[in-house]
Amino acid sequence: MAVPQPVPQLVLGPPTQTAVFLTLTVAPGREDDVRDGLRELSGLSRSVAFRARDDALACVAGLSSDAWDRLAGGPRPRELHPFTPLQGPRHLAPATPGDLLLHLRARRADLCFELARLVLDGFGDAVTVVDEVHGFTYFDERDLLGFVDGSENPTGSAAADVVLIGDEDPDFRGGSYVVVQKYLHDLTAWNALPTEEQERVIGRHKADNLELPDDVKPPDSHVALTTVEDEDGEEQRIVRQNMPFGRLGTAEFGTYFIGYSRTPAVTERMLRNMFLGDPPGTTDRILDFSTAVTGGLFFVPSAGLLDDLPAPGETRETAPEPVPAEAVHPGSSLGIGSLKGAPA
Ligand code: HEM
Repeated sequence: MAVPQPVPQLVLGPPTQTAVFLTLTVAPGREDDVRDGLRELSGLSRSVAFRARDDALACVAGLSSDAWDRLAGGPRPRELHPFTPLQGPRHLAPATPGDLLLHLRARRADLCFELARLVLDGFGDAVTVVDEVHGFTYFDERDLLGFVDGSENPTGSAAADVVLIGDEDPDFRGGSYVVVQKYLHDLTAWNALPTEEQERVIGRHKADNLELPDDVKPPDSHVALTTVEDEDGEEQRIVRQNMPFGRLGTAEFGTYFIGYSRTPAVTERMLRNMFLGDPPGTTDRILDFSTAVTGGLFFVPSAGLLDDLPAPGETRETAPEPVPAEAVHPGSSLGIGSLKGAPA
């Protein structure tokens, strides 16, 4: 008989029109309050989601490496570490403060807003919001550079295999890692480029989203540098749920990059290719028009573990009990397939 697997947080929900990304720091000495708040999160999500069951509300919470040590006891996720800043020959990927990441998504902005408000209310002054981004879908899933973003994402059970931890870290099955970066675009410089040149920067055609043939795609294009393979030639993938955002009055035009994976090593390799170059010095041309202003790496526990996060000093005897998916994500069909599988 198959061993039941812990239910993940809803990292692989259906596409949504809106998202809110909140990065929080935890006040010293308030760790117990915040852990209590995290344990309440799934209940709050259920209450708000139930009011609009077709609108795919989801809230995913992640903890940074430091936050894990302050808030949680028991074993430690094997690959959890702080975000590594990168200084390349031309571009910087900074690491910025953040103990918790909340990624809220829904088909309606009011649902994200309401849930974020309730969650922050619960945390009270135990947390400070250090970054807040409200993202929106821009036409046919385009970023503000005008290109369709996300088309190479794996889907269905392939996506689950890419993002959800399996047997390689049995205490944390159903968990995931997430890397986030807030990018600001220089749209004036970008829009001054002819479309054909923009296409060479990205590595895809703008109108029909077709990938440029390999003999035409420049080695410093975004697609060339983020396509990575392991030593057996197997493509290594992540699931991106990027969202555009902006503020017209201050001419702020951005992409919130968010990449989930069962090991942070894949996303980190893509980042090194982009910022340091592959080969070294051949850096991603998207960065000539996009500046990373934040950077963070978080561990996303399974839903069951988040509901019952042990305090430091407490131990978890066994992996958390699986809970029925319907109890965690009412009205949602997870469509995540099996959580087991070979390590990535
Ligand atoms: C592909 C935009 C940052 C990883 C793409 C594509 C676009 C895009 C338009 C092509 C369509 C697609 O397959 O989705 C952006 C923008 C970014 C950004 C506007 C921020 C300025 C990043 C970062 C990473 C990344 C930081 C990873 C660390 C990827 C991957 C692909 C991709 C893996 C698919 C490559 C392939 O297999 O074809 N991105 N991206 N992107 N991007 Fe990004």
